[in-house]
Amino acid sequence: MPDLSAAESFYSEFGLAVTPSGQGLALGTHGHPHTWGTIGEGPRKKHQYMSFGVFEDDIHGFAKRLQEMGIVRLDPPKGVDSNGLWLHDQDGNLVEIAVAPKTSPSDKSECSFVTVGAGMQAAPFRRDVKRTYPRRLAHVLMFTRDVSKAMDFYTRVLGMRVSDHSGDGIAFLHGVHGSDHHMVAFAKSNAPGFHHLSWDVGSVDEIGVGATHMLSKGHGRGWGLGRHVLGSNYFHYVRDPWGSYSEYSAGIDFVPADFDWEAADNAPEDSFYVWGPNPPEDFVHNYEA
Ligand SMILES: [Fe+2]
Repeated sequence: MPDLSAAESFYSEFGLAVTPSGQGLALGTHGHPHTWGTIGEGPRKKHQYMSFGVFEDDIHGFAKRLQEMGIVRLDPPKGVDSNGLWLHDQDGNLVEIAVAPKTSPSDKSECSFVTVGAGMQAAPFRRDVKRTYPRRLAHVLMFTRDVSKAMDFYTRVLGMRVSDHSGDGIAFLHGVHGSDHHMVAFAKSNAPGFHHLSWDVGSVDEIGVGATHMLSKGHGRGWGLGRHVLGSNYFHYVRDPWGSYSEYSAGIDFVPADFDWEAADNAPEDSFYVWGPNPPEDFVHNYEA
């Protein structure tokens, strides 16, 4: 991203744990040991790579599969310390497959709704409201030139499964070891690029509190409150300074390990949202194209 101090401020206000890392920044969530992402400085917003963690027992199988499929193994990017497998996906995005602890959820995330009995006030006073701190990265949405090719690559090479898609417009994929409805999604564009990071929070109230805090810090552009159809999650997207988004997400559908989620091709009107305000006109504009 072009301005590390703006990134530091945006993601800290969003509720993430932002720490210095090499020449850039690491994105964590408070109370969770994993580093979900890193940001370096560059002339313009540009997605660099995506890393997939796999079990130690599976890494040799992945190496063998890449060889059998004739997929060229690449060196890690300069400055990245890694003994993982590096490759290009169908769009030329850099991908790493590396042994790592499982960070996708093994159970459906808790999404609470607090109410009280008659004769009591349910809402907190504003002075008592706590900031929203997301629990973990939930998913990443990428632009792709060809959604069908993305589905094909990520299922055959990475071993993911399609949860749902809508023609060649959008596709949602989950991992087979227990995963949200989507850990990666792909939307049609004329070029690859990064669209949004989605962060799991514990309630619709936390979504609203987070969105209100971001508004008070000058980050009022975005989309929400709404509810998606595919994945079912409640959402509010906050636009970052570079035209991509961070999403507060609650209540997403969960696919248990080895569960056979029936993948469907859905009508476009059922691929986006059940209810919510109209999305901004440039919501699906690819600023990396
Ligand atoms: Fe999302």
